[in-house]
Amino acid sequence: MGRFATLTSSALTAFALFSTTEAACSSKKNDTCPMQVRSAYAGPEGMVVSWNTYSRLSDPFVRYGKSPHHMDKVAVSYVSVTYPTSTTYNNHVSIKDLEPNAVYYYVPMDGKEKTPFTFKTSRSVGDKSPYSIAVVVDLGLIGPDGLTTHVGTGAANPLKPGDKNTIQSLEAQGDVTEFLWHPGDIAYADYWLKEEIQGFLPNTTIEGGAKVYESLLNQFYDEMTAVTGVKPYMVGPGNHEANCDNGGTTDKVHDIKYNVSICLPGQTNFTGFINHFRMPSAQSGGLGNFWYSFDHGMVHYVQLDTETDLGHGFIGPDEPNGVEAEDAGPFSTLKDAQTKWLAKDLASVDRSKTPWIIVAGHHPWYASIGTDASDVCFDCKDVFEPIFLENNVDLVLSGHVHAYERNAPTANFTADPKELNNPSSPWYIMNGAAGHYDGLDTLTEPRNSYSRFSQDTAYGWSKLTFHNCTHLTHEFVSSANGTVLDTATLFKNHKC
Ligand SMILES: *[C@@H]1O[C@H](CO)[C@@H](O)[C@H](O)[C@H]1NC(C)=O
Ligand SMILES: *[C@@H]1O[C@H](CO)[C@@H](O)[C@H](O)[C@H]1NC(C)=O
Ligand SMILES: *[C@@H]1O[C@H](CO)[C@@H](O)[C@H](O)[C@H]1NC(C)=O
Ligand SMILES: *[C@@H]1O[C@H](CO)[C@@H](O)[C@H](O)[C@H]1NC(C)=O
Ligand SMILES: *[C@@H]1O[C@H](CO)[C@@H](O)[C@H](O)[C@H]1NC(C)=O
Ligand SMILES: *[C@@H]1O[C@H](CO)[C@@H](O)[C@H](O)[C@H]1NC(C)=O
Ligand SMILES: *[C@@H]1O[C@H](CO)[C@@H](O)[C@H](O)[C@H]1NC(C)=O
Ligand SMILES: [Fe+2]
Repeated sequence: MGRFATLTSSALTAFALFSTTEAACSSKKNDTCPMQVRSAYAGPEGMVVSWNTYSRLSDPFVRYGKSPHHMDKVAVSYVSVTYPTSTTYNNHVSIKDLEPNAVYYYVPMDGKEKTPFTFKTSRSVGDKSPYSIAVVVDLGLIGPDGLTTHVGTGAANPLKPGDKNTIQSLEAQGDVTEFLWHPGDIAYADYWLKEEIQGFLPNTTIEGGAKVYESLLNQFYDEMTAVTGVKPYMVGPGNHEANCDNGGTTDKVHDIKYNVSICLPGQTNFTGFINHFRMPSAQSGGLGNFWYSFDHGMVHYVQLDTETDLGHGFIGPDEPNGVEAEDAGPFSTLKDAQTKWLAKDLASVDRSKTPWIIVAGHHPWYASIGTDASDVCFDCKDVFEPIFLENNVDLVLSGHVHAYERNAPTANFTADPKELNNPSSPWYIMNGAAGHYDGLDTLTEPRNSYSRFSQDTAYGWSKLTFHNCTHLTHEFVSSANGTVLDTATLFKNHKC
């Protein structure tokens, strides 16, 4: 650590407008220019700051402090990791002993003449002051290689000219929301194949596909820096993190059904996802970025893995022989590791401190999408729902289906008779309408008996507001213009 003793804030008094795009770095393929900057909560007093670079860093470090003019502290790590076919290194630095609910400014490495990034640490456990968060599921690359104002042959729902996309909408609402939660389907790099087949992207060979895949990933994480560079970004696994064949894309013209056998090792089994993030599983006894929990003020948040490791002999949708057969997982060698962890994690929550328990998992089980067993995960329901009921979970978030559907509080396919007025079943909200190349899905008629509001034509994200111990509001915000298209408030008679 000695070499950092000489670092002072004096070099950081002048700031230019920060721009950390891949393009800005691409002229220097061998340097340490920071890209894809992001942070995540790491326990009550910790954060992890991560970013990518073209070259490996021997000792990635972050300078930080409570004033942009006084980033006098340094945290260093030796984690600069990559995988076959990746064009970048993922650098992860853990920062400890931070104050709760405090804004910090930071720059990766020397950061000369750059506007610093920021994060706000988590609120103390039991802090009952109100706040909001943003949630997106199924958010992919926006722009010429992803979701834009036109689509390829067979795709639908392009952006309308003048509409804000979801990343712009999240950016526009600034610090109104304290962190961004993204429970799976991140970037949609596996769409390289579909985009080529649909004539949207120039054709490459299958072997050359890995380059396109990695380029889409890099572009997405660069776009996200506008949001993830100023607030924590918490993520979970979705099926599109698992492989490169886009779930078995068919080239109808050439009558080829692709499968995971075309994927290089870097594009299977959540490899990019594992390398890119450091979620707080060490602090919560979870597993990697797959399942973990964290507290923030009056809320206990739980991220689950609906893709693999369901336990009880069930096969997750992405596992070999699963309904989506992405050839991924399992990630624990222990029997029923995830469900045992969940039961223990929820049982240990002190509801007088964190009255609210919010769970997110990628696949839904309450969704008006017919009986398509690959899009709804009834196995997930079988293993998780009893544990939610036993522990009075308040809200369960999901996506995967590219539409928005707010259900009633529900148990075993039956709406809670109390609806939102102090129900004993968890409230279920599915919002996979954040947007990616392939547009939106169409919900089926009739909607499920427990469905209360749904829409499948507008892109948008979820805003959750915790008012106090007893009231929680969910809003569906249209990304196009910021209009709230649906709002509902849950009352729970929590004592605190
Ligand atoms: C890249 O950087 C490494 C380490 O600084 C150096 O050894 C290598 O020669 C550089 N390569 C090029 C092509 O500049
Ligand atoms: C384009 O590439 C895809 C995927 O490699 C392949 O299926 C298709 O045959 C190619 N199309 C043409 C016109 O070469
Ligand atoms: C995957 O595709 C390859 C090549 O097209 C084929 O040989 C193989 O049988 C397929 N595997 C499965 C499980 O369908
Ligand atoms: C995926 O990775 C995990 C851990 O890295 C490994 O245990 C598992 O066997 C892999 N799954 C497949 C299908 O390759
Ligand atoms: C769930 O509902 C089905 C009928 O819809 C019923 O057969 C089953 O016993 C119920 N399970 C539980 C745990 O209540
Ligand atoms: C905002 O966008 C939504 C669709 O996302 C649309 O239904 C609504 O009419 C728009 N409102 C205004 C004021 O333009
Ligand atoms: C909690 O917040 C709700 C919504 O803002 C409000 O109506 C209610 O009065 C608040 N309860 C308490 C005890 O402050
Ligand atoms: Fe999905």
